[in-house]
Amino acid sequence: MRFGEILGSSPAMQEVFRKVERVAGTDITVLVTGETGTGKELIAREIHNRSPRAKGPFVSINCGAIPENLLESELFGHVRGAFTGAVSSKPGRFQVANKGTLLLDEIGEMPLALQVKILRALQDRTVTRVGDTANEPVDIRVIAATNRDLEADTKAGHFREDLYYRLNVVHLLLPPLRDRGDDVVVLARYLLSRYAQELLSKVRGFTPGAISAIKRYHWPGNIRELENRIKKALVLADKALLGPDDLGINSDELPAILTLADARERWQRQYINEVLSLNGGNRTRTARDLGVDPRTIFRHLEREESGAGPDDILPPGDDTGRLP
Ligand SMILES: Nc1ncnc2c1ncn2[C@@H]1O[C@H](COP(=O)(O)OP(=O)(O)OP(=O)(O)O)[C@@H](O)[C@H]1O
Ligand SMILES: [Mg+2]
Repeated sequence: MRFGEILGSSPAMQEVFRKVERVAGTDITVLVTGETGTGKELIAREIHNRSPRAKGPFVSINCGAIPENLLESELFGHVRGAFTGAVSSKPGRFQVANKGTLLLDEIGEMPLALQVKILRALQDRTVTRVGDTANEPVDIRVIAATNRDLEADTKAGHFREDLYYRLNVVHLLLPPLRDRGDDVVVLARYLLSRYAQELLSKVRGFTPGAISAIKRYHWPGNIRELENRIKKALVLADKALLGPDDLGINSDELPAILTLADARERWQRQYINEVLSLNGGNRTRTARDLGVDPRTIFRHLEREESGAGPDDILPPGDDTGRLP
């Protein structure tokens, strides 16, 4: 399934597309969150392209990449003489985005002092240039993006609560690639054919081993990582089909495939723990609910404490509980 430039057939992405369709026609502020490389900027552009503002500009500013002392002028502009080097008056991104959409990217990196000014700009739809006193009206739609947990930042006092609520009118959460099922394979094939042309590569596809590795790998850098690994392989590999090693995926980075007995045992342990927790740790009641002898529950708890079992063969750091 193709949604503009965005590929995704998984239920999680279909849900995102439905939400985008519903908000695109409005001027509602949207907060886009998701891990790095999940397509936050792509989604923001898609919202713009599907909106009545599509003929207007799409302007993006990376709030984390600009030094704090320059950020205010970048956002709101400045007047001549506002600071050393301000030889002429200059509009900021808010003014440039007039009649269009402004993406405040990496909004979580915005310094607290500027958060107040952003809030005011969103509330009044006016901005004031650095060194100026007059307000300029701006007609913009704002989209904010971040890979941070803004709610947690708010609780920790790093992000203003009032701004958080202002931005979070509609929340779009982009799922990590590993939660998108077979989308990863569709994306891999799409990226391969797209860049093979561009890079004049003779690679035509993936080996079955590569497909399996792509499905099992954890993809911490999400679609951007997939894209980069494929591009690199296209440039370096001198063959028709890319294997897992061309993609730089080592088998020791992949979660082990469990035997059926180990998988069954692991599932059983998880399930007993769930029912125990539902019963507030009461062993007798849990045993009754599960239709087993209470001694089974005791043995289970003993083993949990000693930490033995098939979980041990997972690579360190994989705490997702995913089954391969
Ligand atoms: N569903 C998708 N279909 C096709 N291409 C995608 C998809 N999602 C992301 N991409 C591509 O992956 C790359 C990363 O996407 P994007 O820059 O939008 O991610 P991001 O979430 O903004 O990342 P970061 O947090 O690092 O800024 C881009 O080249 C984008 O075109
Ligand atoms: Mg981005």
